[in-house]
Amino acid sequence: MNEARRGLPDLGIGVGLRVPHYKRLFAERPPIDFVEIISENFMAVGGKPRHHLERALATYRVVQHGVSLGIGGPEEPGRAYLERLRELVRQTQTPWVSDHFCWCGAGGAHLHDLLPLPFTRNLVQTIADRARRLEDFLGVPFALENASSYLTYRSSVLAEWEFIAEIAERADIGILFDVNNVFVTAYNHGLDPIQFVESVPPERIVQIHLAGHTNLGTHIIDTHDAHVIEPVWDLYRLTLERTGPVSTLIEWDDQIPELEVLFAEVERARRERDRALAARLTGTSSLDAPAREGVRKAARARPQAVAARHGWTQGGPREPVTSA
Ligand SMILES: [Fe+2]
Repeated sequence: MNEARRGLPDLGIGVGLRVPHYKRLFAERPPIDFVEIISENFMAVGGKPRHHLERALATYRVVQHGVSLGIGGPEEPGRAYLERLRELVRQTQTPWVSDHFCWCGAGGAHLHDLLPLPFTRNLVQTIADRARRLEDFLGVPFALENASSYLTYRSSVLAEWEFIAEIAERADIGILFDVNNVFVTAYNHGLDPIQFVESVPPERIVQIHLAGHTNLGTHIIDTHDAHVIEPVWDLYRLTLERTGPVSTLIEWDDQIPELEVLFAEVERARRERDRALAARLTGTSSLDAPAREGVRKAARARPQAVAARHGWTQGGPREPVTSA
C-alpha cells in the first residue's frame, strides 16, 4: 500500500481552536496533539485575534485551514487575500494549508459559504492549475477538502470522488478528507459512502476531519454541533485502514461543549484509530460485510423519509420511490 500524507507528519488527533475555549486552553494548557485555526479569523493585522494567535502558537502545534479561497469560482482568488494568507503561513509555520473544493462568490461578491461545484473536466483543469500555482506561491504543501453538499448539477460528468482524485493527482496536492462530509453528501444525494471512501487515493490524504451533523430525515445539514455518529466512525476506520496514520481533527463549531466533552471525542477518535491501525497491520478490516451494509443502509435512509413527508423523492413527483 502506498504511503499516505505526501511525507507530511502524522500529528495525532487535534481539535479546532474556538473562542469559548481560549480562556481554559491558555490558562490550563491541556495536552492536545495539535489545533487547527481558521485562517481568515487571524488574517487581520494586529488586534485581539493576533494576540490570541500568538498565545496559541506558544502553546500548541497550529495547522491552518481556510474557508474563503473559493478555488473553483469563476474568478481567480484575489491577490490581496493570497498575500495575507502567505503572511499568516509564515507566522504560524503551519506544516500544510488547506481549503475546500467549492466556490464562494462571483463578481466581487463573497457569499461566505462553501458552495458546491459542477464536477466537470474543465473545472478539474482550472482548479488543478490554480492549486499548483497556489502551492508554489504559499511555499507549503496545499490540500483541498471535500465539502458537504445539498444540490448537484446536471452538467456534472464525474463522480465527486473522481473529481477530487483527478485534481489532486494533476496538481500534485493533498486531500483533506472529511469523513463526515462523505456521509452527509452520500445521504443527501443517495451515494454509496463506502464506495466514496474506497475510491479516493489513500496516498493523497494528508488530514482527516470528523464532525457531527443534524439529520432532518429529508436531508442532513452539516452543522458541526454534535457528536460524530456511529456510521462516520466506521468510515473513519475504513479510511485509516487504507491510509495508515493520518492527522485527524475533531470539528465542533456550534453548540460548542465544555472541553471535557470535546476531549472525550478525541479519546474516542484515538480508540477508533488504534483499532483501524491494528487491523491494517494484520491485513484485515474492522468492518465486516454486515458492518459495511449497516453504513450503506444508514446513508440510504433518506428516500423513505422524503417519501413519507412528500410522497416523492428528489426530482419531484415524476420520480416515484421505487427502492428502499
Ligand atoms: Fe471539514
